[in-house]
Amino acid sequence: MGMDKKRIVITGASRGIGLEMARILISQGHTVYGAVRNPEGATDLQEAGPAGILQLDISDQDSITAFGENLANTTNALDILVNNAGITSNDLGADRRQCNPWQVDNEIVLEETRINALGPMMVTRSVIGLLEAGDNPVVLNTSSQLGSMIIGAAMPFDVAYNVSKAALNMITVMSASTNKNVSFVALHPGWVKTDMGTDAAEMEVADSAGAIVNSLLALTIEDSGRFIRWDGTDHPW
Ligand SMILES: NC(=O)c1ccc[n+]([C@@H]2O[C@H](COP(=O)([O-])OP(=O)(O)OC[C@H]3O[C@@H](n4cnc5c(N)ncnc54)[C@H](OP(=O)(O)O)[C@@H]3O)[C@@H](O)[C@H]2O)c1
Repeated sequence: MGMDKKRIVITGASRGIGLEMARILISQGHTVYGAVRNPEGATDLQEAGPAGILQLDISDQDSITAFGENLANTTNALDILVNNAGITSNDLGADRRQCNPWQVDNEIVLEETRINALGPMMVTRSVIGLLEAGDNPVVLNTSSQLGSMIIGAAMPFDVAYNVSKAALNMITVMSASTNKNVSFVALHPGWVKTDMGTDAAEMEVADSAGAIVNSLLALTIEDSGRFIRWDGTDHPW
């Protein structure tokens, strides 16, 4: 079982957790397609030697549609989709430490939810036929502990981020309950030393990505609708 080769798409594979997962999965011999905003600039991903690099901006429906068509021209089935690309309010020009419910700009909440929650939903929709043709197909939606009601309440800095990840969690469970052919799982990757996580974070990228890959490769339809940590344990909703 551990030896079978998967056909995998990872979004946001240019840097951070997505790049590291791509590196690990490529080194294990899987067929990895990296989906990135700027293929020419994705030199670290290029060096990792993926089966392909596809253009994808998850904030742009035309880009998502073209991505789905390109992937369908590249492979006739997909076993794993990792919806990893995501942003914080910093990426929309705000200070994420000062975006609580009394401070945040409505438009940032809407735009971040459009990108972090509806982006993965539409990316999944664009390749659902390929997933349904896959072997033990899995969609891993990279959420966050901040999308949990419990942790979100305890870390109330950035409404837009927490709401967007809570929305992605809801989309994950609704996808699970409405499509029984594909396993849909929400993930908290840990607090990780990336551009987003900052140097203050607890985990090294390699440790997070390595654990996520192990957990991901063990997921089956039985896991559909779960919210897991990097190590595969249940995260509270
Ligand atoms: N790091 C943490 O502590 C932490 C904790 C909880 C959850 N997460 C989640 O884990 C995921 C990966 O985070 P990370 O820490 O690796 O972040 P990162 O280092 O900031 O990388 C973000 C990735 O997402 C891509 N991206 C951003 N907007 C995009 C768009 N519109 N279309 C396509 N790609 C886009 C970026 O591409 P470009 O290179 O083109 O900008 C980049 O590859 C995110 O969903 C994040 O919310 C991270």
